[in-house]
Amino acid sequence: MAHSLAPTVIPMNDLSRGISRDQGEFTRVFDEVLASGYVIMGPKHTALEQDLAKYLGVAHAAGVASGTDALELAIKAVMPEGRNVVITAANAGGYTTTAARRAGYSVRYSDVDATSMCLSAATVGEHLSTDVGVVVITHLYGNLTDFSELVALCHSFGVKVVEDCAQAIGARLNGVAAGSIGDIAATSFYPTKNLGAIGDGGAIFTNSDASAALVKELRQYGWSSKYRVARAGGTNSRLDELQAGFLGVRLPLLDSLNERRRSIVASYVVSAEGGPLQVLPAVGAHHVAHLAVARTDRREEFRAALSERGVQTDVHFPVPDHLQPGFAAPAQSLPVTERLAGEVLSLPCFPEMTDDEVNAVCSAIAALA
Ligand SMILES: Cc1ncc(COP(=O)(O)O)c(C=O)c1O
Repeated sequence: MAHSLAPTVIPMNDLSRGISRDQGEFTRVFDEVLASGYVIMGPKHTALEQDLAKYLGVAHAAGVASGTDALELAIKAVMPEGRNVVITAANAGGYTTTAARRAGYSVRYSDVDATSMCLSAATVGEHLSTDVGVVVITHLYGNLTDFSELVALCHSFGVKVVEDCAQAIGARLNGVAAGSIGDIAATSFYPTKNLGAIGDGGAIFTNSDASAALVKELRQYGWSSKYRVARAGGTNSRLDELQAGFLGVRLPLLDSLNERRRSIVASYVVSAEGGPLQVLPAVGAHHVAHLAVARTDRREEFRAALSERGVQTDVHFPVPDHLQPGFAAPAQSLPVTERLAGEVLSLPCFPEMTDDEVNAVCSAIAALA
């Protein structure tokens, strides 16, 4: 009897594989935390903060409950007195908009550079005015580009720079890590991130003693010490001890996992050569290949063709912030951002993919015509 075999699905991600790789170490951490009785901000949390600061080459790291919280508290910590506008890109998933609004500020969108897909001095310049206090730069898809001109421009206007390195942890440009180039930085440990927890988590990085102290107060009700509220605007945003312990297991693996991600993207780039899909390269230490992103003006057609061959795809991100109904932002035209939202396509990319899976995606890419 004839029957058709459903193609094996190559998923965008499969968290169970990384969990099973690390299960022995996670179990050890779990047992140690249970035995210690410290379940929030205990010794593993302190150790993780120290290890993260050392890894990035910054003076301070502070654990918090999520990447969105990290953005909110980072923005609050550096917003100059008397200013209330945050400038950001509209193509980075909406997290900064959520965080800045929760912090009580308004958001102004700048278009992005057509090549880096990130903010630049050229795109942000026209939006700077005396009410702007913070520019949030997102190292999109894992790509740390040269922001020195933008940082210098912001500082010349008294504007602080917050880095969102949730997609770019471990990226280094000329030896300088994502998370160490602005005034303060935020990251997420959402499970699919390059450094992912087994639940929610986030962290803030800074070289400023004052900002670090402020963030550490804000993450715990505005307390300067127990039950003494010294700051307005505090909240409860703590990274719990188990997650800190799990992240401590994974931090030493990060560089090699990032290398594996880059090699997956490199295979896709080779397979796409001469074909109609433009896979964006992720070559060198400045790119940690959080996502394998391609550009095409035939997205729906190619997504269907890839799906036929069992390759899952996704879009990061289909709707720019200024067009999200829930954000109800004032009407604005951001031509590059809007064009990119219609062109980008993400392919499976996670370090635990098998070589067979990578090869199957490569064949599916090569078959596109
Ligand atoms: C660039 C970026 N910033 C912020 C966040 C928000 O992090 P979280 O989900 O931990 O709040 C994410 C993803 O989740 C992200 O990709």
